[in-house]
Amino acid sequence: MKRSLLITAFIVILVLAAVTLTISLTSSSEVMGTQADEEASDVPFWKTSIIYQAYPRSISDELPDGTGDLVGELLSSVVTGAHNTEDGAGITSKVDYLRDLGVGVVWLNPIYESPMKDFGYDISNYTAIDPIFGDMDDFDELVARFHEHGLKVVMDFVPNHSSDQHEWFQKSVRREEPYTDYYVWADPKGTDDDGSPIPPNNWLSVFRGSAWQWNEERGQFFFHQFLASQPDLNFRTPAVREDMQKILTFWLDKGVDGFRVDAITFLFEVKDLTLNEPEVPGSEDPDDYASLNHIYTTGLPETFPVIRDWRVLLDQYPDKLLMLEVYSNNMETLMKYYGNETYPLGDFPFNFLLIDHLKNRSELTGESLRTTVGLWLDNLPKGKWPNWVLGNHDVGRVASRVGEDLVDALNMVILLLPGTPVTYYGEEIGMLDTFISWEDTQDPQGCHWGQDHYQEHSRDPARTPMQWDESKFAGFTTANSTWLPVNPNYKTLNVAAQILAQTSHLKIYRELAVLRREEVFMKGNVSFPVITKDIFTFMRHLESYEQYLVVVNLSQKPVEVNLLQNTTQELPQKANVVMRSITDTSENTKPGMEVPLDKLPLTAGEGMVLTLSSEV
Ligand code: GLC
Repeated sequence: MKRSLLITAFIVILVLAAVTLTISLTSSSEVMGTQADEEASDVPFWKTSIIYQAYPRSISDELPDGTGDLVGELLSSVVTGAHNTEDGAGITSKVDYLRDLGVGVVWLNPIYESPMKDFGYDISNYTAIDPIFGDMDDFDELVARFHEHGLKVVMDFVPNHSSDQHEWFQKSVRREEPYTDYYVWADPKGTDDDGSPIPPNNWLSVFRGSAWQWNEERGQFFFHQFLASQPDLNFRTPAVREDMQKILTFWLDKGVDGFRVDAITFLFEVKDLTLNEPEVPGSEDPDDYASLNHIYTTGLPETFPVIRDWRVLLDQYPDKLLMLEVYSNNMETLMKYYGNETYPLGDFPFNFLLIDHLKNRSELTGESLRTTVGLWLDNLPKGKWPNWVLGNHDVGRVASRVGEDLVDALNMVILLLPGTPVTYYGEEIGMLDTFISWEDTQDPQGCHWGQDHYQEHSRDPARTPMQWDESKFAGFTTANSTWLPVNPNYKTLNVAAQILAQTSHLKIYRELAVLRREEVFMKGNVSFPVITKDIFTFMRHLESYEQYLVVVNLSQKPVEVNLLQNTTQELPQKANVVMRSITDTSENTKPGMEVPLDKLPLTAGEGMVLTLSSEV
């Protein structure tokens, strides 16, 4: 009797457990979709996700003051019922858009307290949110909402310099301990004829002119790689390194999913501040940063142990991402920032090769794209993961650099190659650079070059408000003006229009985001069967899965290509169209149709995704 009771109780428990498990699995997969699968596997989230760079000043403005923010009044309006969440603005209100876009990680440019001299890259308090963007409650709400929707949140981390308004700097000026050596201070080399102090060496600021600024109160120069209002922190001072660890810990404890480290190559300078950097032969403008070879101020070996400390700290938390901003044309230098299997550093340094090498259409050929892609893949340290970047807040928009006709094709390339794609906001709808007059120019880099040259250097054109719809200011704000002008093309180039249109860049992007989740794209090999001046192709294959072929016509004219010629691998006669650029409206290449690989018609700049029929 006792025994049968026990057995019955055991069976009841088993049934209850099974029911609970089924319910929890069903609800989590309904809410999270494939996210749940990812969590079940050991693959870090950033390997399977698209990273979306949200420039907070320009996503959506709730407050409304013409500058974007996190959530603004949304929370309180939800509480008071003043209007529903649909009416809210701010980045948090875009969570559904981002989820539907298919991105998995949102990287926010700096939202910390800042005098905004370099739009947030001059931080006066590393653990506070600037009121322009909202407050800490708004931030917590953003993280909670994004997490609920399966989106990760990555912060910008700016260790190289603070704002001159930071209390560390103010105390350092006054030589108050322990801050005396928090920054890089130096005595003058002498005085000039006017009695003015002469900087200790010839080092230049990225934004032009001497990197040394005289501080009357302290009677010394301080060093700044960027603006004078962005003094460089001194990483040779242990307390600075400790403070940076504390800052990272603060945000990790808040639940952020990782960091993009700003300007990491600038972290250290040589100890001997009398050394001049060598001049680049032939350079005519002595104030131009490019006129010196920066051997004493960038990429110093002391940088790596610091990154290592951050890595170790991040690894005390589960599944955190560390991406590093590294510009270099030396592959060996770049790859060092990955570390290696026994000494891991960043999860990746950003791959800016698609920006650096492909500055305009004339530089973009099938061959140059193949070389550029190969440079990263072939130099990748063992066990490390590639990434692909088409644009960011520091460079011109990709559609303006190389042509609108290539928007879909380049998204196909970065979303379907092996690795993690990084999309700068607006690239999914093909946003273009906006003309900004000298009077409207905000970017300090543009301003430093003066009225005659600002257009070559200003970063404003790529930072204008996101184009949501055709309403005033593109649906970005209800304010009377915006911090940078909205691109006048917003009436036709906007999210709402692209959702309504039968075909659009946005729709292609969304489809690609779904397609790339297939096993063959996540785990498959890559090969490049046909490369010519006009044509770039790559194939993704994984045993027992359907193979995919991506074909891009980089030329500015329609072509009919014979992929069966000049191929390094055997291809079938025919393939099936999965997706094509919106520029292609031909009846013969509609998705689902079979097309001949010896006579494949492509419009100028078109990209096409094909599956290969098995007969070869
Ligand atoms: C990085 C940022 C850039 C900023 C600079 C100084 O390069 O991407 O926007 O101006 O660092 O912080």
